[in-house]
Amino acid sequence: MALVSAKEMLEKARDGKYAVGQFNINNLEWTKSILQTAQELQSPVILGVSEGAGKYMTGFKTVAAMVSAMIDELKITVPVALHLDHGTYEGCYKCIKAGFSSVMFDGSHFPIEENLAKTRELVGVCNGLGLSLEAEVGAIGGEEDGVVGKGECADPDECKQIADLGVTMLAAGIGNIHGKYPANWEGLSFETLSAVKKKVGDMPLVLHGGTGIPTDMIKKAISLGVAKINVNTECQLSFQEATRKYIEDGKDLAGKGFDPRKLLAPGCQAIKDTVKEKMEIFGSIGKA
Ligand code: 13P
Repeated sequence: MALVSAKEMLEKARDGKYAVGQFNINNLEWTKSILQTAQELQSPVILGVSEGAGKYMTGFKTVAAMVSAMIDELKITVPVALHLDHGTYEGCYKCIKAGFSSVMFDGSHFPIEENLAKTRELVGVCNGLGLSLEAEVGAIGGEEDGVVGKGECADPDECKQIADLGVTMLAAGIGNIHGKYPANWEGLSFETLSAVKKKVGDMPLVLHGGTGIPTDMIKKAISLGVAKINVNTECQLSFQEATRKYIEDGKDLAGKGFDPRKLLAPGCQAIKDTVKEKMEIFGSIGKA
């Protein structure tokens, strides 16, 4: 099955009161682990690629070619969207050209007029090509691949202005941050989420910073209109923990334990377990 836009899967999720996970990829192992889990669990899935990860994988063209070929070779039949995460204006155009099926334009750090103007232009381009477009209002806190946000709560009126442009989905800051949440984190602002939802109506909402948000908050966010949840750090941490254990147990020193396919296997399994756990919480299993 070819890559698909995220539009249909997110509208179904919104109507069915569940969320589709966006899991960020870094390399072949990450991509394979996530795709296999989605197929096994019959869940739609969004593969997120930050600009830094795209560069690491030698460029967006490599990423698009790898993902498309892998879907074919692994006989993946569930809907898969390949999505640029926190894209710059230039990055969006590069991904569109490279064959991504979805992009996020993160104009949250621009004055709202500039965010609106650039998002408006990209709506036209993406609609013409049948790609989905995510916009952002109110920066997500924390740091992801060098992109630093303050963790603001979005202004619901600005959300409406962006939603009215016809974007596919909207990321609105509601006190969420990338990476681990600090011990003194105040939790998600459901007040902001409800106010945003009231203004934007049917627009599927996106919750960034999915790592470490307690299950009850995730479920409440879904009930209030969140249809896409992004997870990145949690897969990195589970991969790291499993890989550390393999080496600390001396398994790389036994027999052919140094073979990269063996060395990376526990980490890959850990990513699969994390993705499965998230899909269970998000409710996307069996919704392909
Ligand atoms: P985490 O790294 O906190 O899971 O956030 C992922 C994310 O929001 C990607 O945009």
